[in-house]
Amino acid sequence: MNTVVTSIIDGAPVPGARTVQSTNPARLAEVVGDVSFADAGTFVQAAESARKAQPSWAGVPAPMRGRAIAHIGRLIEDNAEALARLITTEIGKPYAEALGEVREIVDTCDFFLGEGRRLYGQTVPSEMIDKQLFTHRRPVGAVAVITAGNFPVAVPAWYIVPALVTGNSVVWKPAEYSAVISAALHELFIRGGGLPDGVFNLVHADGAATFAGLQQSLDSGFLDKVGFTGSSAVGREIGALTGRHLQTACLELGGKNPLVVTPSADLDLAVEGALFSGFGTAGQRCTSLGTVLVHESVHDRFLAQFTAAVARAKVGDPTQDVLMGPLLDAKFADRFEEYLTWIQPHHAVHGATGRISTENPREGFVGDPSSGLYYHPVVVDGVRPDDRIFAEETFGPIVGVATYGAFSQALELANAPGYGLSSAIYTTNPKEAFAFAGSIGAGMVSINNSTSGAEAHLPFGGNGKSGNGSRQSGVWVLDQFTRWQAVNWDYSGRLQKAQMDIVELAPDTTFRL
Ligand code: UN1
Repeated sequence: MNTVVTSIIDGAPVPGARTVQSTNPARLAEVVGDVSFADAGTFVQAAESARKAQPSWAGVPAPMRGRAIAHIGRLIEDNAEALARLITTEIGKPYAEALGEVREIVDTCDFFLGEGRRLYGQTVPSEMIDKQLFTHRRPVGAVAVITAGNFPVAVPAWYIVPALVTGNSVVWKPAEYSAVISAALHELFIRGGGLPDGVFNLVHADGAATFAGLQQSLDSGFLDKVGFTGSSAVGREIGALTGRHLQTACLELGGKNPLVVTPSADLDLAVEGALFSGFGTAGQRCTSLGTVLVHESVHDRFLAQFTAAVARAKVGDPTQDVLMGPLLDAKFADRFEEYLTWIQPHHAVHGATGRISTENPREGFVGDPSSGLYYHPVVVDGVRPDDRIFAEETFGPIVGVATYGAFSQALELANAPGYGLSSAIYTTNPKEAFAFAGSIGAGMVSINNSTSGAEAHLPFGGNGKSGNGSRQSGVWVLDQFTRWQAVNWDYSGRLQKAQMDIVELAPDTTFRL
């Protein structure tokens, strides 16, 4: 019998009216689970439950909430292989990467377990005597977290862990195509943390039901914050919706991440970085490489080495040692086919394109290509700023290559698409490295390193079409899930008026040496 996955609200399963099968993208005939989808009303029920559970969760002393995070981290570490195997099975992420993704949750728990014993506020001197000032971080309240399935456990944990440790309750709506993984992660959190009912609710729903549920929950005053990882288009809608409720969503959106190869670059290193950035996770990271901007003097050498490395790369069965497995789900495969239609006659494509099959084979393919959603990795040379391939995110295994002459042109091209998530430069010239970091609009800059693979305790997030300036991870995400409260305590026994009842010292402003 298949695994059956339902929404979980207030600690109880809540089946929906519609059941959809989640399949293994590497072996389409294999059903990973039956997922029962909720309607908007069920989403609202989850938000209401989170609203009710939040005050008593905030009443649990923060160090004890930190202990819950510590236990969650340990339980996830002890279940790392099983969770990673499930990630490989449901979304086709190569096993080594899946294990790395699970590690990222453990790292996040390790970072935040201590926050339960910090959550520092300040003591601040007052301008009046017999008066003390303080600041406190207060939880925001009930939080909705809506996440994509390319990082089905690490990215949700970036929201859920800091939200919980700071005293918020959570409604999590994971991607439809990673529902079975999310059920496992939810259970690890509930069991590991000993979380009371309602503190962490899980809702499986499609986009339309989620948006309607979000709208109604916000109208009813059940939610105080929305965290969303996904496309720029949906991010805009969520930003507008939450803005109408005077809320700022935490938005982590798409990217068109540039990688600049300068004349002084170590080309072998740049090729290795471009290969991993472009085709690791089959190019389905928000931090994946969009366009290589290579100096005209090294273009031919770089391209020859890069295309040779792409041709050699292992593609296939994600349970094996491969760089690239299948696409996440049929929806992503369909969209990728559409991106391939953006290739124009003025482009030069190296190697085969499209779905890998017996008729359209890939040399050295690991396993049986016809069993899954496997696509040829594509390098498109000669892209120009007015090409769609240059200007828009192309989630999947496709990388554009453009050339530049003057360094200022590289900077211009790097910023031109208007996203601003991640970026990279390969150079041995510190002036170029600093000039790039100072001029790029991206929230994240790699120097002599891949655009993807950010560590879990640095600020993660973007600008422009990549987000609204919010940052996840490390100490920076605390500002998403807490609000500063300023407290003043006057124990003088009289009303002292700020700016008026103050001690004045008399300066001698005419004194000269
Ligand atoms: C994402 O694709 O949404 O920096 C997140 C990286 C990973 C996270 C990617 N640590 O590539």
